[in-house]
Amino acid sequence: MKPIEIAKDIYWLGVIDWNIRDFHGYSTYQGTTYNSFLIMDEKITLIDAVKKEFADELIASISELVDPKKIDYVISNHTEMDHSGGLPRVMHRIGEDKPLYCSKMGHKNLSRHFSQKWNYQPVENGGKLSLGKRTLTFLETRMLHWPDSMFTYVKEDKILFSSDAFGQHYAGIERFDDEIGEAIMPHARKYFANILLPYSPLILKLVDKVTEMGLAIDMICPDHGIIWREDPSKIINAYVEWSTQKPKRKAVVIYDTMWHSTEIMAEAIVEALGQEGINARPMHLRSCHRSDIITEVLDAGAVIVGSPTINNGLFPTVSDFLTYMKGLKPKNKVAAAFGSYGWSGESVKLINKELEQMKFDIIDPGVKIQYVPDDKGLNACHELGKIIARALP
Ligand code: FEO
Repeated sequence: MKPIEIAKDIYWLGVIDWNIRDFHGYSTYQGTTYNSFLIMDEKITLIDAVKKEFADELIASISELVDPKKIDYVISNHTEMDHSGGLPRVMHRIGEDKPLYCSKMGHKNLSRHFSQKWNYQPVENGGKLSLGKRTLTFLETRMLHWPDSMFTYVKEDKILFSSDAFGQHYAGIERFDDEIGEAIMPHARKYFANILLPYSPLILKLVDKVTEMGLAIDMICPDHGIIWREDPSKIINAYVEWSTQKPKRKAVVIYDTMWHSTEIMAEAIVEALGQEGINARPMHLRSCHRSDIITEVLDAGAVIVGSPTINNGLFPTVSDFLTYMKGLKPKNKVAAAFGSYGWSGESVKLINKELEQMKFDIIDPGVKIQYVPDDKGLNACHELGKIIARALP
């Protein structure tokens, strides 16, 4: 891609990964971008690299503006390989001895990823670096979402380079929020739900801290997706709302099924929830990707999980989903389990055990039905839906 000037002498140099569809288990139906930035000041500074296979594309973009050897400083806001994978090639081209600024944890983590003895310059939280006309300020953002993560702020231009935070996995021709409008928000929301959700309490603290510091922000430049320039407060406010995890009158019924019995139960529960005025939908685990289900779980007040019993255990996709959801630590949910069985019937007990570990409020022991739901079984599913509806705000 050709460089795009996003502010005077500051350029977007990202690459577009149109074809990626699986980002470590997250479905990226519309690809993603890896954003890199170049500040042409007295000290020419590159902020973040790209994934390994796009390193040559980044070097070509830099070369449209300046001989890469003229770059004075490199900033690495985050070690994960989608941003650092291209560093060896880029540093080789820029000069292995050029100062590489990163957080202290970034120094440790980059050293664990790469054998090169780069000229690491670990920075403190609040540390500053003069580029000439501008001064960069580094803000540690540990666990948002790695221990090494940091932001880089340019006071003179009021630009926040926010690494992964405020990003979206979206590949498109648009570079800015005002070019795409509301259509970017589902991507930002999915990205939050699947990457940043476990760190919600830290996000709320960070927003408070930034507000206290009175940091003026005209533009937020994340490392994925579009740049927020028209209204950066929109994504900050969305992060506050998503981090708060206030439950809505919404239920997600997540299940898998072998011979449709658990499916019939899921649909009966959804029907009852709908009759009670709850926004409810069934999500079949082999029809919906786990990352899309979690996006729906984000603001749901109720999570109801169903599995048939197979070989005394859970259906594998249900185990997969419960493991994924547990790691993302959603909060403020009422929950229940259901499932069909043939002879042993452990699934409801096993789901409840997982839901308990997630600290969900299990409001009913759950419904288990042998073989195929009859009228009595369907009534039990309807009753479960009504119990859940009553528990929602
Ligand atoms: Fe985009 Fe945590 O890497």
